[in-house]
Amino acid sequence: MSETLTIALSKGRIFKDTLPLLAHAGIVPVDDPETSRKLILDTNQDDVKLVIIRATDVPTYVEYGAADLGVAGKDVLMEHGGEGLYEPLDLKIARCKLMVAGDPNQPQRGGRLRIATKFVNSTRRYYAAQGQQVEIIKLYGSMELAPLVGLADRIVDLVDTGNTLRANGLEPLEHIADISSRLVVNKASMKMKHQRMKRFIAQIAEAVAARNAA
Ligand code: ATP
Ligand code: PRP
Repeated sequence: MSETLTIALSKGRIFKDTLPLLAHAGIVPVDDPETSRKLILDTNQDDVKLVIIRATDVPTYVEYGAADLGVAGKDVLMEHGGEGLYEPLDLKIARCKLMVAGDPNQPQRGGRLRIATKFVNSTRRYYAAQGQQVEIIKLYGSMELAPLVGLADRIVDLVDTGNTLRANGLEPLEHIADISSRLVVNKASMKMKHQRMKRFIAQIAEAVAARNAA
């Protein structure tokens, strides 16, 4: 009997960029998550299902075994903490950088530097490693607004082209980490479904290598 594989993906760029990798492994979803309201998608393979969840929830689903595998940004994994998961493969998709940004000409408020971000843990670790005490303000999006309205001196956010920063009069100032999406794997699934998982991971690794050689 074949073992079912459940793969957790988020809508948008991760889904879009993962599709060609899955196709290389012979897996094609039956529904499109952008138009379907379904959260569990069938694929052309009876034993492979996709679950569509928020990007930040992927490590949780995989850690608890609600999905055998998932695709998550390194930014999300750094925030979640990677201990409960295996991270066997860098998929080299959704590449960007985690950076400190701000307006270098903005006069500094007195006292501790105030940083607005949704990446609270990564930000705390970054400044702690520099021995700098900062005040961190947790936001859930639109971080670029915070320095413009005096909520924060700096932001920590993802930067790709830099267009979002530029459009808001901000500049990238300090590089924290290079980000790309990773294949993450539930530890128990790796043991219980070893052959099936190994085969799938090898197929995806081959797809990544082929894409980067092209
Ligand atoms: P949620 O909807 O749960 O808030 P999100 O908006 O961060 O999540 P996406 O925008 O789809 O979800 O981002 C998913 C992942 O893609 C991020 O975790 C990050 O690793 C990467 N990413 C985010 N922005 C960019 C970008 N501009 N260019 C390349 N990769 C990016
Ligand atoms: C991401 C990120 C930045 C932007 C950076 O947002 O949060 O705002 O991309 O990319 P850039 O440097 O090329 O402008 P996204 O476009 O995913 O929108 P979101 O905030 O809804 O996730």
